[in-house]
Amino acid sequence: MNFRINSFEEYQSTYKKSVEDPEGFWDGIASEYQWKKKWDKTLNWDFEKPDVRWFEGGKLNITENCLDRHLAENGDKTALIWEPNNPDDATVTFTFTELHEAVCQMANVLQKNGVVKGDRLCFYMPMIPELAIGVLACARIGAIHSVVFAGFSANALADRINDASCKMVLTSDEIKRGAKVMDAKKVVDEALSKCPSVETVLVAKSTGNDVPMQAGRDLWMHEEMSEAEAEFEAVAMDSEDMLFVLYTSGSTGKPKGVVHTCGGYMVYAGYSFNNVFQPADDDVYWCTADIGWITGHSYIVYGPLLNGTTTVMFEGVPTWPDSGRFWEICDKHKVSQFYTAPTAIRALMACGDEWIQKHQLSSLKVLGTVGEPINEEAWHWYHDVVGRGKCPIVDTWWQTETGGIMLSGLAGHSPMKPSFAGYPLPGIQPVLLDEKGNLVEENNQEGLLAIKYPWPSILRTTYGDHERCRLTYFSHFKGYYFTGDGAKRDDNGMIRVIGRVDDVINVSGHRIGTAEVENAIDEHPDVVESAVVGYPHDIKGQGIYAYVICRSMPENQDQMRQEILDVVTKEIGKIAKPEMIQFVTGLPKTRSGKIMRRILRKIAEGDGDKLGDVSTLLDPSVVEDIHRGVLVV
Ligand code: PRX
Repeated sequence: MNFRINSFEEYQSTYKKSVEDPEGFWDGIASEYQWKKKWDKTLNWDFEKPDVRWFEGGKLNITENCLDRHLAENGDKTALIWEPNNPDDATVTFTFTELHEAVCQMANVLQKNGVVKGDRLCFYMPMIPELAIGVLACARIGAIHSVVFAGFSANALADRINDASCKMVLTSDEIKRGAKVMDAKKVVDEALSKCPSVETVLVAKSTGNDVPMQAGRDLWMHEEMSEAEAEFEAVAMDSEDMLFVLYTSGSTGKPKGVVHTCGGYMVYAGYSFNNVFQPADDDVYWCTADIGWITGHSYIVYGPLLNGTTTVMFEGVPTWPDSGRFWEICDKHKVSQFYTAPTAIRALMACGDEWIQKHQLSSLKVLGTVGEPINEEAWHWYHDVVGRGKCPIVDTWWQTETGGIMLSGLAGHSPMKPSFAGYPLPGIQPVLLDEKGNLVEENNQEGLLAIKYPWPSILRTTYGDHERCRLTYFSHFKGYYFTGDGAKRDDNGMIRVIGRVDDVINVSGHRIGTAEVENAIDEHPDVVESAVVGYPHDIKGQGIYAYVICRSMPENQDQMRQEILDVVTKEIGKIAKPEMIQFVTGLPKTRSGKIMRRILRKIAEGDGDKLGDVSTLLDPSVVEDIHRGVLVV
């Protein structure tokens, strides 16, 4: 595509143009894609309602841009490389022609089973090709995909299915994860006992082990696929039709379904991928995320395919069969751009440099990081040891809600500074605000990160609850999208994102709401109340620390801790299990009954003797008790 930026000077002039004339700028970028009908109006927006519409009147199908448009010249080029969990099993590759055929077949399977434009389909699957194919088939037919990370529990899955009234679930028999085999179909079955909207379950074979199939509801995907035609006319979507819903955690309540729409998301996913990663025609790009998260949506599936770039999809884990797996895959598939999370970098750094030294890693050109702040030590290790000092690092800051990368260097062109995401992409207008919403003009001051102008892939709503979208993102500061992150700007205008300033914890790059974990813990019949905070964790970035009040102080604390972990696993999933559980007799509350998390955070961080003013507490002695009983972290 003809929107590649090739130098830092070009970035600067492009950025300037994008701010001076955003509509003209995005008009030009959008024109690089294939539309079934050109849009009438580039942008309508109002951040107060909020109401943002890009490329209205335009008609498109994102899969035509991901697949069909590459067929004539690049039909035989590899589109997808699937690396299985077990390195002894065969890699599976799809050329653009083959992927196109598979997606069309799957779209026919969906249609045959009653799926029509606008239906919601839930995916609960391991990282197997059927997941990428299914997601694209959904987009081709105009249905809305809702991918749920396959580590969530049946209860969490049921909540997400019900929130969007999904008509179909796509899953697999089981899930291979390193040496373990985990349930998928059984989890779906359990969830579906509470999900009346689901009519059909399509089951892919992964392990091949027997799983119960319910007649009249459950179908084997491979059987359906074998009969399906390999052609399917892509449905014409309005630019502002929904493309997908993706659930993410916030400060309060249950996870919300972030909604992205077809036109703007496509334009931004393709543009940002191309410029941040700077792929060449024959490069192989690998993002290690799971498609259950936004990173997988935008930068395993859509972004690379929109650009005709070969994308790798990995089923397994970084440390199985050994800690060299990532590097072995990089060599095996000659990966050029490698994109992962700081938590993985830190975990692999802890395994020792010998795992890296065993591999060539000579194909690597660009290293990317995403999901949480990267500490300087990990940054240097990534740069010096993994990249052998020759690969630029792109530290990409963005969110489920932003749809694509917002702050990042453009690989090879932008200056790098460890732990700084850097500069905004063209079209992105970040600001730092103080608590009152005034601009923080001075450099090197911490402020709240907000965005003052829409970009094409900004979330449009939260599924079924627009008011929640307004309250969460657009009500804190009038006229701004508020990110929930704190950040600093240096004297050169580079931005460092420090982390969440709300009640969201970032554990291994996964967003977890404190309220969600508290609600889960409170499900235990002996628990009266709980409060959850994050604390610094060497590998995970943050860990979860729970303060729990029981009906009476548990006699066997270890057993009670285990029971609480079981409840959290059942309600949410393993990723939300607290590392630390402290039983307390009271929680620090203000006179109006609000839990003072600031204090609990300090205690969890080991700074319990630097609490500052606690005089506004209803009962200041509670703090002393908690601090005295603190666990050694
Ligand atoms: O706190 C920021 C952190 O991850 C949050 C968004 O999480 P999620 O919606 O799950 O999306 C993650 C993948 C895009 C942000 O609010 N975050 C993400 N990337 C970075 C980051 N923090 C610092 N530096 C980053 N590069």
